[in-house]
Amino acid sequence: MTNKAKQDRVLIFDTTLRDGEQSPGATMTHAEKLEIAGLLDEMGVDIIEAGFPIASEGDFAAVSEIAKQAQNSVICGLARAQFGDIDRCWEAVKHAKRPRIHTFIGTSPLHRAIPNLDMDQMADRIHETVSRARNLCDNVQWSPMDATRTEADYLCRVVEIAIKAGATTINIPDTVGYTVPRESADLIRMLLQRVPGADEIIFATHCHNDLGMATANSLAAVEAGARQIECTINGLGERAGNTALEEVVMAMKVRNDIMPYQTGVDSTKIMNISRRVATVSGFPVQFNKAIVGKNAFAHESGIHQDGMLKNAETFEIMRPEDVGLSETNIVMGKHSGRAALRSKLEDLGFELGDNQLKDVFVRFKELADRKKEIYDDDLIALMRTSSDPENDRLKLQSLKVVCGTEGPQQADLVMEIDGEEQTTTQTGDGPVDASFNAIKALVPHNARLQLYQVHAVTEGTDAQATVSVRMEEDGRIVTGQSANTDTVVASALAYIHALNRLLVRREKAGSDKREISYKDVS
Ligand code: KIV
Ligand code: ZN
Repeated sequence: MTNKAKQDRVLIFDTTLRDGEQSPGATMTHAEKLEIAGLLDEMGVDIIEAGFPIASEGDFAAVSEIAKQAQNSVICGLARAQFGDIDRCWEAVKHAKRPRIHTFIGTSPLHRAIPNLDMDQMADRIHETVSRARNLCDNVQWSPMDATRTEADYLCRVVEIAIKAGATTINIPDTVGYTVPRESADLIRMLLQRVPGADEIIFATHCHNDLGMATANSLAAVEAGARQIECTINGLGERAGNTALEEVVMAMKVRNDIMPYQTGVDSTKIMNISRRVATVSGFPVQFNKAIVGKNAFAHESGIHQDGMLKNAETFEIMRPEDVGLSETNIVMGKHSGRAALRSKLEDLGFELGDNQLKDVFVRFKELADRKKEIYDDDLIALMRTSSDPENDRLKLQSLKVVCGTEGPQQADLVMEIDGEEQTTTQTGDGPVDASFNAIKALVPHNARLQLYQVHAVTEGTDAQATVSVRMEEDGRIVTGQSANTDTVVASALAYIHALNRLLVRREKAGSDKREISYKDVS
């Protein structure tokens, strides 16, 4: 029997569509999930966790469809330690060429208390549920949720039970981002030493980033013998997120001298998928984020720029092309046609249908009339606005704002609401406040604005502003983005984008998956 912990190959398990999509406000549509799954499959991700099939009809449909379409990746679905969950998960993943069931239960004292199971009862539950999964599927992953806060002896005991019941992968989650690299490594080492049969299965590491150590903890686990890293694109995920796929892949590539492991991921596809996930999830990537941030390859200081011109290796440990980044250049102008726009957007990783292209082209022309030089970043920002304009119930028709040193500022707003034109004039403390008050007057709601953020896309006073807003209503969180050379218009559009998403969420509130609790395992 091969000792799996000694192999060089590290499997990449991407959970953007499950753990990542759990980020409040990051909900993706069915079509968006299929698109992201297609990109993950194409870039060589070994296992795609496509969703949580019992959570909602939407999740079930997405996992089933992804399972049918995947060419190479193993397709995995999540299931709590309940027969109903496991059976439903199998119904969704069974269409895949290579299906996997991932079942889990919280094993730490805090998590055992919730279903009120004692250690023996939980051990029985693990045996029954892993056996059930293994009878359906020969590829079964089991996770002791909150493993890093589970008593060591009990962790060894339940891992052994899961292996005996047929689990082929044992995932060790640091659910609350509590561990540190040395402890992460020690835990895997201990399991490999103490648990009978441990060298015949794959150990996985699944780290959350609450203390900013998710990537370091994942790599430490690999050094100790874990051979599967669970991660998400851009580190998307609840709270501070998960281990970022791009970080672990590039760290193992750049430091192959001391981490001699291989992954099957084509790193040149990283930028493309990062941008798509940022767009569809509504979670923009922070500028200084490792690998995929806008500034990750930018050199500002004179010394750095000088060094870069002489020899790029002076200040770069990897080349921009290694992650699929081509140099930012002036790409388009007002005379560029639709075919050129389509081709340029394809280069940037955006595949558009004809209707979407029509909409983007109109907005591109409007932008080109206002802004002479259009850069890649301008086009990416353009793509971040409403992805489904035809189905939006709320549309901005016109906005005129009076602002300046003499307040109060005033906004005259015309909107189309469910096909009907409506008008209002409102004042506020500044032009953005006046505009938001006007929108609220036409679309009354109780959603609380949690975040309002403005960034300049490029340099110069004619730069576009990208605006992100996040709103919360009755526990539902939605985000909205927009870009415009007029910051106030971009703000109003981002607000309307978020409201359109809120209306969709309200409509399907009955089947909202976040109403299903992970802890509800009894
Ligand atoms: O963080 C976690 O513990 C999880 C489990 C469901 C594996 O995501
Ligand atoms: Zn997780």
